[in-house]
Amino acid sequence: MPNAVIGLPLDRVDGVAKVTGSARYAADAKAGSSPAFGAIVTSTIGRGLVTKVDAEEAERSPGVLLVMSHEDAPAQAPFKQRGGNRHARAKPALSESRVYYYGQPVALVVAETFEQARAAAALIRLSYTTESGSYDLADGRKLAYTPETLVAGKADTQVGDFEPAFAGGEVKVDATYTTPYQSHNPMELVGSLAEWQGDKLTVHCAAQLVDAAHHSIASTLQVPLENVEVVSEYVGGGFGGKLPIYADAILAALAARRLKRPVKVVLTRQQMFSVTTHRAASIQRVRLAAGKDGRLTALAHEAWTQSARADEFAEGAAVCSRAMYAAPDRMTRHRIVALDLPVADAMRAPGDAIGQLAVEQAMDELAEKLDLDPLELRLRNQPDRDPEKKIPFSSRALVACLQQGAERFGWSRRHKVPGSVREGAWLIGLGMAAAIRPNYRQAAHARVRMDEDRHVTVEMDMTDIGTGSYTILAQVAAEVLEVPVEDVSVRLGRSSFPQTPGSGGSFGAASSTAALREACLALRKQLEDGKQPGNLQAEAGAEPGDEYKTYSQHSYGAHFAEVAVDTTTGEVRLRRMLGVFDVGRVLNAKTARSQLIGGMIWGVGSALHEHAVVDQRLGAFVNNDLAGYHVPVHADIPMAVDAVMLAGFDDKSSPLGSKGAGELGICAAGAAVANAVYNACGVRIRDYPITPDKVL
Ligand code: MOS
Repeated sequence: MPNAVIGLPLDRVDGVAKVTGSARYAADAKAGSSPAFGAIVTSTIGRGLVTKVDAEEAERSPGVLLVMSHEDAPAQAPFKQRGGNRHARAKPALSESRVYYYGQPVALVVAETFEQARAAAALIRLSYTTESGSYDLADGRKLAYTPETLVAGKADTQVGDFEPAFAGGEVKVDATYTTPYQSHNPMELVGSLAEWQGDKLTVHCAAQLVDAAHHSIASTLQVPLENVEVVSEYVGGGFGGKLPIYADAILAALAARRLKRPVKVVLTRQQMFSVTTHRAASIQRVRLAAGKDGRLTALAHEAWTQSARADEFAEGAAVCSRAMYAAPDRMTRHRIVALDLPVADAMRAPGDAIGQLAVEQAMDELAEKLDLDPLELRLRNQPDRDPEKKIPFSSRALVACLQQGAERFGWSRRHKVPGSVREGAWLIGLGMAAAIRPNYRQAAHARVRMDEDRHVTVEMDMTDIGTGSYTILAQVAAEVLEVPVEDVSVRLGRSSFPQTPGSGGSFGAASSTAALREACLALRKQLEDGKQPGNLQAEAGAEPGDEYKTYSQHSYGAHFAEVAVDTTTGEVRLRRMLGVFDVGRVLNAKTARSQLIGGMIWGVGSALHEHAVVDQRLGAFVNNDLAGYHVPVHADIPMAVDAVMLAGFDDKSSPLGSKGAGELGICAAGAAVANAVYNACGVRIRDYPITPDKVL
């Protein structure tokens, strides 16, 4: 193509707006008149009932306009745990006296200023009847049950007969891994600004899925969809934590209606840990058996994860083991444990991120028992078709990822005996792991216009959560319509724009670009038919075809990590890291690489840092801020972290050839770090995160 724009490493088209502050996030949005500010009050018990809300002092506090609790909150649609799109459900707030978890919204205070609202919120006195709750996953395991479905398919799968095959295996691993609660905590807090004009409501909120948010808000408030506009033009990170809408959106809308004035409600950082969702903790048992030739004969991956009593969620931790390695006898199994904790939901690469922390460490353990290079073990167990579904892969360049990664990283320099390489007080080790993440696509729609200057405007309800949606959509329109990228304006994040699935599950890019391509082709046809630019418009949709049933679709990767372990303190330092990925065709080499590197760094965090700790007396996440909840900071991440994408094109995934990328980077990255720690010092830690106390 002479005008090839797709794939170029263009800077973000929204970059200048973001770094100069002209990009408006939900809490920066301007309303028609000056807004009042709401502060949410949360429960300080883990389970029970609110018996009394004493708001007298708060109501007398300066600037206070309104206090709302279950005693006087307006009627809303009831909450239903099951059925339909879980992110589009009614989400009533303050609708009952029951407390399901510590940190649940129990009151709202609205005042003239944010500071007044927060000060008054501290004056609300709540009385409770406290009930004893269950907060411990290991302890709750005896009550585990089978979820009806996972987000990614059936709860259990089975091929052949695992148990006898495993019993008769020559070389075996039977290991249990645990992963802790994790919290998304994007930089942008969850918050909303709601404004009514007559019976029309506009809610600016931080939403990954505008269409789902639109349905969720309208159905909760029991108002017609067409009376509600959801706006989410810029989102400061989502990672799954902004898939649902939360109490801030509903309470802002309810308070704005009552006060006849715009109301803004923003969660505090501490509230992000309980009012929004988190990643469930898991216990995972992995059993692998192989012949002395290094070929797997039996594979089982079983997972037990937390689910909130208030809202069921099944983390698909073992799903990654369904398509990764060949083994004739195999099974995966998911059980969930209902606890009186905040609501678990999807967090970046739900299921796969923590599943591969387990299974990719188990593969390392098996390689050692076989006296085989862990890279070679992966190479020997590549299936030629999906080992469970028995259908072909759409595209699978995992072997190339493994081989090219090994070559670039210098994997051959690894010493197979742990503890062999010392530099002063540090022991040095190398580790690797292979990554897989399902490729999803959904139906999407787009509208495109061209004015007389051949300037193109794209409109979709798609979101850009920092991923680069604005940029890749501009690139697609520019290439298909043969106009400069600078002449494309992309408008996203409004529910009145054509419907897309939004940003989630790594499906956003493939779904939205496929739709935009169709709309641009329709517009191009008008030009080819002799129409002149100016007031030209086309709207079209695209949806995945049967290729999603007849082909097994995934993105793949290979991670390599080098760590140093301080033998005196147990401190682990990442020294360098490389990921090589198969994401089909790359839509923008810069934004895709940034996402993959971000995911890899998150993988480092899941291996070494992240852990939301539950206070077992209260069911509270105690380290609920970014001082206590550790994530990698600059000092933890060396410059030598790189992501490389192989050239590819998956025509079964999308007409543009791309596969999901955003969630792939985290998958298995932490296992490569864990395996490097073992290679460095010979300590095998199956309980994440790998903190110094466990290393020593
Ligand atoms: Mo993703 S965890 O579906 O934003």
